[in-house]
Amino acid sequence: ALMTAALALGAYLLGSISFAVVSSKLFGIADPRTYGSKNPGATNVLRSGNKKAAIATLVGDAAKGWLAVFLVVRYQEQLGVGDMAVALVSIAVFLGHLWPVFFRFVGGKGVATAAGVLLGLNVWLGVATLVTWLVVAYAFRYSSLAALAAAVFAPFYYGLLFGVEPQLFAVAAMSMLLLFRHSQNIANLMAGKESRIGGKSKDAA
Ligand code: G3P
Repeated sequence: ALMTAALALGAYLLGSISFAVVSSKLFGIADPRTYGSKNPGATNVLRSGNKKAAIATLVGDAAKGWLAVFLVVRYQEQLGVGDMAVALVSIAVFLGHLWPVFFRFVGGKGVATAAGVLLGLNVWLGVATLVTWLVVAYAFRYSSLAALAAAVFAPFYYGLLFGVEPQLFAVAAMSMLLLFRHSQNIANLMAGKESRIGGKSKDAA
């Protein structure tokens, strides 16, 4: 139990690193919390016009989710932990991204980090969810709508692939938090005010 708690804490701290903030600093552009949707995430960094910074954000935020889960899965036996630890680490790294201890608990919406977590849990789970995101993003050009659809499908993909185990509840919890984090996006979508991918301005309250 102590090991599991330590792993979850480590994952939470790793998740707390906001690559939107870090890469914006490195690329010398404005803090993403000051423009667009104000969200520290890849979609909003793209609104700065700096594609490299947006890609660095996407890759960094996904990589931290992937790394946390990959490491605990890979060294499960050596660490003496089971599925419960994998599930808790999955949710902890995601919680770090949403409520980062290093940024006064003001984090992102969790899309890239969730993608990384899913890829870490299982490559096919990650690929199926990413394909869902891509299909919806390509068809409708809304990053948020694509994330919402992918989040709805992810727990079903997990259940179909592996059945009911602790990780399924982690995936479902992650999806629910992701949906809640997108309440402004959902309101914008319903009002026809959501900005499309590549659009530079955004009516975000
Ligand atoms: O990555 C979050 C995305 O789904 C929406 O971001 O900036 O449009 O609120 P944003």
